Amino acid sequence: MPKLEVEGVGAFDVEDGKRLVLAIEEDASVDILHRCGAYAKCTTCRVEYVEGEPEQMTQAEREILQTKNLAGQVRLSCQILCDHDMKIHVPMTVTSMGLDGPGSKPEPCITPEPEWVEKEKTA
Ligand code: FES
Repeated sequence: MPKLEVEGVGAFDVEDGKRLVLAIEEDASVDILHRCGAYAKCTTCRVEYVEGEPEQMTQAEREILQTKNLAGQVRLSCQILCDHDMKIHVPMTVTSMGLDGPGSKPEPCITPEPEWVEKEKTA
C-alpha cells in the first residue's frame, strides 16, 4: 500500500492506484478543492511535492499548468494516482479559501481519459 504524507496533517496508507485528490479528501480528511469536478480545468486541486513527484503527467495536466504559468511549481491531484509513496503540501482548501464547498465529487478514475506524457523538465 502506498503511503501518502500530507504536510501538517499526517501519513496515511492509501489504496494502490487511488486518485490522489480522493486520497487527500477521504483518507487524509483534508478539504481540498476540486472546483472543476476533477477535469484538469481549474487547478484548485493543486499540490506541492516534497517527495515522490511522479515523472509522468497527463497531457491535460501539462496543458493547463503551462497555460496558467504553474509548470514546475505545482501538480494537479486530480491527474495523479497513488502508486508509490509521496509527501505533499496542499495549499488550497475550502477552509483556507473561504469557499462554500470543494466542487463536485471526482470520479474514481482520472478524467478526462488520461494520455500519459513525460513531465516537463524544469531548469
Ligand atoms: S484541475 Fe480542477 S479539480 Fe483538478
